[in-house]
Amino acid sequence: PALPNDLFSAINDLKRELNAIILAHYYQDADIQDIADYLGDSLGLSRQAAQTNAEVIVFAGVHFMAETAKILNPDKLVLLPDLNAGCSLADSCPAPEFAQFKAQYPDHLVISYINCSAEIKALSDIICTSSNAVKIVQQIPRDQPIIFAPDRNLGRYVMEQTGREMVLWQGSCIVHETFSEKKMVQLKIEHPQAQIIAHPECEPPVLRHADYIGSTTALLNYCQDSGADTFIVATEPGIIHQMQKHAPQKTFIPVPGMNNCACNECPHMRLNTLEKLYWAMKNREPELILPESTRVAALRPIQRMLELS
Ligand code: 13P
Ligand code: SF4
Repeated sequence: PALPNDLFSAINDLKRELNAIILAHYYQDADIQDIADYLGDSLGLSRQAAQTNAEVIVFAGVHFMAETAKILNPDKLVLLPDLNAGCSLADSCPAPEFAQFKAQYPDHLVISYINCSAEIKALSDIICTSSNAVKIVQQIPRDQPIIFAPDRNLGRYVMEQTGREMVLWQGSCIVHETFSEKKMVQLKIEHPQAQIIAHPECEPPVLRHADYIGSTTALLNYCQDSGADTFIVATEPGIIHQMQKHAPQKTFIPVPGMNNCACNECPHMRLNTLEKLYWAMKNREPELILPESTRVAALRPIQRMLELS
């Protein structure tokens, strides 16, 4: 069958037909953001997934996000427009290696960033996101040693913010490691009044220059509330669509990658398209499926996060 001429209205019709909700992350293409019922960071998306009454969840994001929605909603159909939409950070922490690593620290509590597979979640005590990582670590008694996985940059940032040592898994995100400090500094010289805002998945040389560091939702709120009118943005540039919508009179400048390529765009997030979203709803596939034993083991640390944040 051919693609309908008006994809927006066809998707809205399917939404009603399926009793579906479309959840989307800020790193999605602008048209996907515009058709979503809820747009958010990883914490907001998990909360929405935990409380929705819809029968079908269409997740416009990456695999670990749809997986989290399925962990919270075993009886719902969870669709991911492209099942290959993975995450370099999640891939940097394979479960067998992590289980061996964890076994070296038997008395440690495992706090894992939500950007990891369901198998890693099942090996964790508490999940966190970039919105609540500091708050969650602060609630752990100081004499309790912690393993933090998989993102070493967020882990280092949380250590600085809380003044606590943690054992870090050495994972990272290909997108947030690509930002060029040199080009960022050049942009600041060209726009001396601009504020630099950065996601904590960025490397320390980039974070060092930031006027504000936060999750995608925190960055979005900061741009609206700040008195500044120009921002140099060190996170995936998909979010600039929302920044511009929320503050149309302000200017947002994306920090380029090291090689001037479009590699500051997440190649996994961008695998989803409006066309694939339509076909996923029309065909009710690809569906996110998880072994029940993994799902049950991964649910507990996610619930702990929702209680603690
Ligand atoms: P947040 O939207 O939770 O800040 O996460 C950023 C990210 O890299 C998602 O993959
Ligand atoms: Fe994973 Fe990084 Fe893409 Fe987020 S931006 S989905 S952490 S690769």
